Amino acid sequence: MSRRPFIAGNWKMNKGPRDADALAVELKRLLADHAAADVAVAPPFVSLPAVIARLQHSGVAVAGQDLHPEVSGAFTGAVSGEMLAQAGCRYVIVGHSERRSLFGDTDATVAAKLRAAYRAGLLPILCVGETLAQRDAGQAQDIVAGQLATALAGLPLDQVLQLTIAYEPVWAIGTGRTASPAQAQEMHAGIRAWLSARYPREVPATVRLQYGGSVTASNAAGLLSQPDIDGALVGGASLTAESFRDIVAAAG
Ligand code: 13P
Repeated sequence: MSRRPFIAGNWKMNKGPRDADALAVELKRLLADHAAADVAVAPPFVSLPAVIARLQHSGVAVAGQDLHPEVSGAFTGAVSGEMLAQAGCRYVIVGHSERRSLFGDTDATVAAKLRAAYRAGLLPILCVGETLAQRDAGQAQDIVAGQLATALAGLPLDQVLQLTIAYEPVWAIGTGRTASPAQAQEMHAGIRAWLSARYPREVPATVRLQYGGSVTASNAAGLLSQPDIDGALVGGASLTAESFRDIVAAAG
């Protein structure tokens, strides 16, 4: 079974409503003809309404960058999955390494957020990945397997089937240092094997695996041509419409 490529842009803490709208205008124009891949962008919360309005009927979906596990309540500064869905988001990023390392998200928090995403009717992009110290210690596969095990524990099959997993080695995020296509493929094959060992065959055949970490227009084709890399989660290079367009083009 062939999986449809999926390219997502994580804008992180960039682009307030005015700049986000300007970027969305450019994306709508440049991505008018991107039928070969699913495409999504994840602006900051405050810019979601502008981007969602601008990208209506463009075929480019919108994602939240994070969500709180609860539906509503006294959680100052937080946004729930239900709110993201009501705003018009289709996807949400869960467990990004910056949430884990800078905001204290544990594997258990990530698991709760993953369940909250499904509860709200959102499609989660679950991020996993090892640090450089963990890779140097030969623990990369074990770390990623552990992150998957806690996040997916007890998740019903129909939800697992809707998952996107983004492998983002922490040492490659925002560093300009990309995993080589062979390194990335090795981990993606490992993730697919992990899924194969635990779920019916349709799961590893269906679940899309994105690579993230310093993906650019020039390295995208090499990464995306690997058999187990189904897409990319792009940070810095998604902030410019042309480079994001070129990455989308490399996928299809
Ligand atoms: P960069 O592409 O800027 O390295 O960021 C990757 C990332 O963290 C996407 O979520």
